Amino acid sequence: MITLGIETSCDETAVSLVEDGRVLSSEISSSVHLHFEYGGVVPEIASRFHVEYIFSVLKKALQDARRDIKDVGLVAVTNRPGLPGSLLVGVSFAKAISLALGVPIIGVDHLKAHVISAFLGDVNSKTAEESFPFLGMVISGGHTNIYYCRNIKDFDLIGRTRDDAAGEAFDKVAKILGLGYPGGPVVEDRAGNYRQNEEIGFPRAVCGDKDHVDFSFSGLKTAVLYYWRDAAKTEAEKDRVCFSFQQAVIDVIDKNIYHAIKITGADRFAVGGGVINNNVLRERIMERCREEGVELYLPEKRYCADNAAMSAVMGEMLYRAGERSSLYLNTQRRVG
Ligand code: KG4
Ligand code: ZN
Repeated sequence: MITLGIETSCDETAVSLVEDGRVLSSEISSSVHLHFEYGGVVPEIASRFHVEYIFSVLKKALQDARRDIKDVGLVAVTNRPGLPGSLLVGVSFAKAISLALGVPIIGVDHLKAHVISAFLGDVNSKTAEESFPFLGMVISGGHTNIYYCRNIKDFDLIGRTRDDAAGEAFDKVAKILGLGYPGGPVVEDRAGNYRQNEEIGFPRAVCGDKDHVDFSFSGLKTAVLYYWRDAAKTEAEKDRVCFSFQQAVIDVIDKNIYHAIKITGADRFAVGGGVINNNVLRERIMERCREEGVELYLPEKRYCADNAAMSAVMGEMLYRAGERSSLYLNTQRRVG
């Protein structure tokens, strides 16, 4: 069966074709350049971009996969969580295709799809279906969540951020330092420039309890804000702030992954989301999992940020597990 995946929850317009878990095409058009000067995504601009580009992205995805729209047997669309205006474009488009072709439609949770993205591509030996139960995590611009994943319909949320998401902290620190949007890639680059060993001791928040692994990044962001207000505004000092901030975020994530492994006793871990593009973070997580004897699943770089292949694969898995949505499918801003 061929599944058409559609993803428009934020600033990427993405369409993908997947056949029995195999990605045939994954097309993405991003409006990120239009948000640069604002230091964050402007919802109105993002949704307008989706309306303008979604049809051409679909055409390209069909072309790349060498398939016709009539080959599609299932439509999977991100319907939660996300920017309401952005979600609405993808969901309305998906409903129109489902109705026109007379094929079923499935609503997909974007955060869980990021977890499933860890199994996409050629680098990983097992599929998600073969790997349940496992510990799953999404580290993105909007969320920092950890789940215990029993099967595709049963993800138990065991930890989340109480304030800012990890990616959001990268974006806000970049804004404080005047480095533009998105913050993650540029902060990682600048941190890589810093060669000395004089880390600024930014705070590492410890939250959660014996059953939970909550995160908090807003205090760290505020610490950077106050530090930078009084700092010598040199490029070298900017590199040092980026390095010290990145170390603090990675320490917190690493510590919480360790805690989550201990709480759940999981021996497999899958992590996705834009922040997992970060090479220093990837290395640290690999090291942690090696030490703990945990099998690690990381997405290929092309599947870290928002894409529709993860939505299509997740939709296909849900469909196989008996889940059905209808044309009354709605959007949800928050996690459902
Ligand atoms: O998953 P994603 O594409 O969109 C959301 O669902 O939020 O994640 C985007 C986030 C942004 O906050 C961006 O700054 C962050 O991922 N990001 C990174 C890196 N590349 C992207 N954060 C840290 N290091 C990176 N290299
Ligand atoms: Zn995302």
